[in-house]
Amino acid sequence: MERYGERGRRLYCLQDASIAVAYAQLAATALGLATCWVGAFDDEAVTRAINLPAGRHPVALVPVGYPAESPGRTSRRSLADLVRQVP
Ligand SMILES: Cc1cc2nc3c(=O)[nH]c(=O)nc-3n(C[C@H](O)[C@H](O)[C@H](O)COP(=O)(O)O)c2cc1C
Repeated sequence: MERYGERGRRLYCLQDASIAVAYAQLAATALGLATCWVGAFDDEAVTRAINLPAGRHPVALVPVGYPAESPGRTSRRSLADLVRQVP
């Protein structure tokens, strides 16, 4: 928000956080670790637990550990469902 105003506060911060989390997951996977993106948490409890300064908000939790199993690939929506071709 300091640099980009309202759009930064509303959107860019979430995009930045999502990039950081996704890349952290890829890095962990490359090291043979497993992760899980967790969005269902108590904002207040997490803010207190990690002592976040005022104005900062948790976006995702990422438990990291050694995988106990190797689940197969799950289904994905089709590319056509997600991508729009601009005429
Ligand atoms: C935005 C978001 C929030 C999620 N929150 C949770 C969560 O709170 N708890 C959980 O067990 N999984 C959660 N997941 C799902 C897991 O991280 C999931 O294993 C991961 O998205 C990969 O799923 P898939 O390969 O089965 O599609 C969430 C996923 C996303 C994208």
